[in-house]
Amino acid sequence: MIYLDNSATTRPHPQVVETMRRAMESYYGNPSSLHQMGVEAEAVLKQAREVAAKFLGCKAGEIIFTSGGTESNNTAIKGVAFQYQNRGKHIITTQVEHPAVYDVCKQLESLGFTTTFLPVDREGRVSLENVKKAMRPDTILVSIMHVNNELGTIQPIEEIGQWLKQFPKVLFHVDAVQAVGKVPLRLKDSGIDLLSVSAHKFYGPRGVGILYKREGLIIHPLMMGGGQEGGVRSGTENLPAIAGMAKAVRLLEETGSVESIRLKALLNHLREGISAIEGCIINTPANGAAPHIMNISVPGVKAEVLLHALEERGFLVSTKSACSSKANEPSRVLTSVGIERDCALSSLRISLGRENTKEDISQFLAALEACVNSLRKQMKPKSVTR
Ligand SMILES: Cc1ncc(COP(=O)(O)O)c(C=O)c1O
Repeated sequence: MIYLDNSATTRPHPQVVETMRRAMESYYGNPSSLHQMGVEAEAVLKQAREVAAKFLGCKAGEIIFTSGGTESNNTAIKGVAFQYQNRGKHIITTQVEHPAVYDVCKQLESLGFTTTFLPVDREGRVSLENVKKAMRPDTILVSIMHVNNELGTIQPIEEIGQWLKQFPKVLFHVDAVQAVGKVPLRLKDSGIDLLSVSAHKFYGPRGVGILYKREGLIIHPLMMGGGQEGGVRSGTENLPAIAGMAKAVRLLEETGSVESIRLKALLNHLREGISAIEGCIINTPANGAAPHIMNISVPGVKAEVLLHALEERGFLVSTKSACSSKANEPSRVLTSVGIERDCALSSLRISLGRENTKEDISQFLAALEACVNSLRKQMKPKSVTR
């Protein structure tokens, strides 16, 4: 099987697995315990925090360990909303956010908050102009993702962050779950107050992530309990997962930008091949997108049917994002960029990772062409002409 679903999740790096095994065997003490085992576990936790902080370009005290991207997003958005609701109840986000942001804003609407869901252009990009227009005296939060999980589009978060600096009371949250390790970002002077990270998207374990919270910023905690993670996220720390995530971060640092350049070359190879297949449409923009995501449509062919045809030939891809693959509902992200329903219903996401080679892509292209040709032959004449 050739795994091309790395945006859904990645296979943990063998060194991450080994680090976790060792952490479970040797550092099983509770980091809050005062005895030797606790102190040793606390040292592992401290080291992991320093690794994460160095990578993100922030202070160790600004790192909060969470259970992943969903929790980081919920903690950031609800944490700000509940803490600052006396200042205002308006939130700005986009129409193309992951449900872990979009649905949180919807939920807050049911609690009396108002959200502006910014439109995006044909490439799925939000504009600073639209952020400016949406700003209101009661705006307390702007939440914009760095890389879109379905299209790969990179949002202009640096530009938005710089502009937002003039409004210190309007907080800026960035969902960087799909960006980490693929698109460079330094938090220093970025204007970003909160940032979400998830380890399983970069060869770390599932169920662990980071919320960066700017020093001094107070947010309402969602989890009350033992007061771990600076009181923002109570609960005994998942030490093996945190140690595994720190290992994955170290490995990212070791490979540096070389891996993104390699992925970009593979993605270009994929793009060229797909453009030559009759009936395939590329939805991912050619410029200003992450190096690992390619979204395509084969109008008239149901995405699920194509997915399983590819699977039979040994290739694993996604329809929409793995977390929201509801049957027969076109993707909100694709309809937001103006892609027709028919086209959106036939969309597939191919996402690359460290184990994919040029040979994998060539083989995939041959399989895709064969599947598309055979499925289009079975289509009703009406949809063939569309
Ligand atoms: C952009 C984005 N945000 C958030 C999440 C949720 O992260 P997690 O699976 O760690 O909860 C995902 C997962 O697909 C994502 O792609």
